[in-house]
Amino acid sequence: MVPSNKVIAIDGPAASGKSSVATRVSKKTGFLHVNSGLMYRALTWSALRADIDTNNESKVIDHLNSIEMECIKSNDSLLLHINGNDPGEELKSEEVNRSVSVVAAIKEVRSELVKRQREYLLVSDIVMEGRDIGSVVFPETPFKFYIDASPEVRALRRRGEGGVDDLIERDKLDSSRKVSPLVIPEDAFVIDTSEMNLDEVVEKVLSELNQKGLIT
Ligand code: C5P
Repeated sequence: MVPSNKVIAIDGPAASGKSSVATRVSKKTGFLHVNSGLMYRALTWSALRADIDTNNESKVIDHLNSIEMECIKSNDSLLLHINGNDPGEELKSEEVNRSVSVVAAIKEVRSELVKRQREYLLVSDIVMEGRDIGSVVFPETPFKFYIDASPEVRALRRRGEGGVDDLIERDKLDSSRKVSPLVIPEDAFVIDTSEMNLDEVVEKVLSELNQKGLIT
């Protein structure tokens, strides 16, 4: 970790509101917003397009090694291009939702993508959202948040966005996998957002960052 660059880690289950919070925190702090889930999604999207059985670990690993995953800075966040193609909204498709947790459970996939996630810190202060950011990717950061909400509220929020996503199944796979499962880091600031609106959640995060001396 480059000592002068800082990380705000935001973890939590599917559809807990991490992205909305991370976007707002990034705007307020000027830190680069990195959505690590998009990397797992982009690989899954690309593997599905190449007709690869996502349950076949070695094929998925070979595929990862054969593609170019390029990050493009757009405003304050990052877009991912695969071999020059922009997957756009397809990253959130039902097919990707259905397979991404299987792909993300592969040890070699995680070690490669975690390596790339850590590289962002070499160029910028970052707000990174995901499942293992505070526990594995940047365990040394003092700025860790775990954003939660009840399964009912999360399902409602996802339905509001449109799209088909079996959140319970994804959470089960993400929490039970052997490598870097979704956990609440011991030193994370946990926010149950079930009965809060976005402004209130962002306010809580910023107030904690203020108390920790990161922002004024
Ligand atoms: O955050 P999002 O729901 O878009 O992430 C999609 C999937 O990517 C998760 O369900 C999980 O399987 C995987 N993921 C992960 N580790 C991260 C971020 C996402 O395993 N840091």
